[in-house]
Amino acid sequence: MSDKKSDTILNNLPKSASKLLTVETGRRQFLLGAGASAGALAFGLPRPARAQSRTEITFASAKFFGKETISDVVNAYNEAQSKVHVTYVELPPPSASTEVHQALVQQLARRTGTPDVFTQDVVWIAEFAGAGWALPLDQYFNADTQKQYFPGTIAACTYGGKLTALPWFVDSGMLFYRKDLLEGAGAKVPETWDELATAAAEIQKSGKAKFGYLWQGKQAEVLVCDAVEVIASNGGSILSPDGKTGILNDAKSIEAIQFLYDTINKTKISPADVLSWDEEPSRRPFTAGQSAFLRNWSYVYGIAQDKKESQVVDKVGVAPLPHFAGGKSSACLGGYQYGVNAATKNPEAAIDFLTWMSSAETQLRYALQLGIAPTRPDVYEDAKLGAEQPFMKQLKSVFTGATPRPVTPTYAQVTLAIQSGVSRALVTGKVKEELDAANDRITKIVG
Ligand code: GLC
Repeated sequence: MSDKKSDTILNNLPKSASKLLTVETGRRQFLLGAGASAGALAFGLPRPARAQSRTEITFASAKFFGKETISDVVNAYNEAQSKVHVTYVELPPPSASTEVHQALVQQLARRTGTPDVFTQDVVWIAEFAGAGWALPLDQYFNADTQKQYFPGTIAACTYGGKLTALPWFVDSGMLFYRKDLLEGAGAKVPETWDELATAAAEIQKSGKAKFGYLWQGKQAEVLVCDAVEVIASNGGSILSPDGKTGILNDAKSIEAIQFLYDTINKTKISPADVLSWDEEPSRRPFTAGQSAFLRNWSYVYGIAQDKKESQVVDKVGVAPLPHFAGGKSSACLGGYQYGVNAATKNPEAAIDFLTWMSSAETQLRYALQLGIAPTRPDVYEDAKLGAEQPFMKQLKSVFTGATPRPVTPTYAQVTLAIQSGVSRALVTGKVKEELDAANDRITKIVG
């Protein structure tokens, strides 16, 4: 069914029912099977007629938004051809990473073939491939086709020597700063964390911004990203080079996490609220004009430039994140990639859809409308992209050189250990003690 039709159905449902369908978390919505369509059936509504000849497939993805939604893009595919019809199942936003992961695992583990196509955070690729849930794609996307993508994203989509995912977009952490406030303070764009803390404190003191630096300290996936960035910017890492032991408690990591703790408790450039904020709660005060700096993902730029949403249009610059003296700037590698369910009954239709979704045209559309960065180098040369999202090309090397989180089929356990350990360190200030304990847990998981 087209989403317009499904929207109409949702609008016509009794209030309690439509609330259940739209407000319940993705897990519940997902368990309904095929999203709105299955929901409509569950409430005794007729399934609208559809061209008989089309192959029906389902596509599940975390919810991304901007000037368009994923549903709009899926509709464009449905309208662009007449062989395949895709029903989109919307999962929670990527900031609710643990819930999205759980919803997918529940479905994929049942091996029923639903959803046929899904998107996966880059950190789940090893787990899904290792469990045999993701269809190997090498026979459909050969070496020449793979060369059209950044080698790093193809590497991230490859597990056990097989391509088990197809690149969608690449994300990396970056520093958003207020050009006007820095200029007013006579400060340059900070390259080290010390420079950032000094400029942030000065701007706060001048009364021009309430907050100096906003980041994400909530016990959630994004905290792992923020932690990887500060740790790697001090030359540290979560796992040893062979991946068999945790090194989250070495001096470099302790100094890095201590820096985050100090932003709240010593330099006071960050409010204690960051400890409960993920992406959007930290983004809002920044685009409302209340902060000098923000660490976040690329989607923020489009919002900052949107007059309806932002008090800081044309005032925001984007730069690589700062580093410790002697270290190098580091961005956490993020992004979602496409996968095909190994149990799909419609591999050809799934591949046709994937080919369209991952094409240069669709990647450009996503970049312009949702502010997410292409995984195809060619798309960065597009003039419209250069005009609307200039930072993407400028920071291309930040995207391509981003630091991965631990690559392991046990990532789902590793991340929980990092999240709780770093969170406790930030709340209690017992940084060494908490990182020691977390590191023991990590070593047990990966060892
Ligand atoms: C972004 C990234 C993803 C990461 C998530 C954490 O969506 O693309 O990789 O896990 O943020 O919130």
